[in-house]
Order: sequence, then C-alpha cells, then structure tokens
Amino acid sequence: MATPKRQILVCQSFRAAGDKKGICHKQTDGFLQYLEEEIIDRGLNCLVTATTCLKQCESGPIMVVQPENWWFKGVDSHEAIDAILDSMEDGTPALQYRIA
Ligand code: FES
Repeated sequence: MATPKRQILVCQSFRAAGDKKGICHKQTDGFLQYLEEEIIDRGLNCLVTATTCLKQCESGPIMVVQPENWWFKGVDSHEAIDAILDSMEDGTPALQYRIA
C-alpha cells in the first residue's frame, strides 16, 4: 500500500501521562469521522491522525496539514473543516483559521 500524500493531525488533547487536558477534544466530538468521510468523498490522498496536545491550547481546537505545515486554530465546526479541506484542494491555506 502506498504511503499517503498528506497527513492531517487532529489534536485530541492526549497527554503522555494522565488524563486528557485542554479544549481540543471537548470541541471536536464526531470530527474524526466527519473528516474521514469528507476525505473519501473528495478523493483526497490523506491520512487523519489523532494526536497528543499540540501545545496551542489557547487557540484550539487545532488541526495541522502536513507536509505543508499549515497550522489551523478554532477548528470547532464542520464549516471550518470544509474550509480547510477546500484550501487543501486549492493549494492555499484557509487564512481565516491559520495560525500565523
Ligand atoms: S489540547 Fe489541543 S493544543 Fe493543547
């Protein structure tokens, strides 16, 4: 199986030790499934990965698109996910959610 062209990191607030902390996992219920379904529907060659805290809690929920290294903040709705996926298809980051 070929390796994916891109990877979307979705902060799920995991900690190396102890319980989840931070806001990302509290505001992204159902997002992983929605993201996976949208990626399939759009035919994107992209892997979704749930991560530990990405150390941007004050701006969460956080998603990162690699290899572009686009960091997005406030990804708390399907509309935000759609905007980010649209931006991946367009080749330019969704500026309204981008961490500068
Ligand atoms: S919990 Fe998501 S950045 Fe810290």
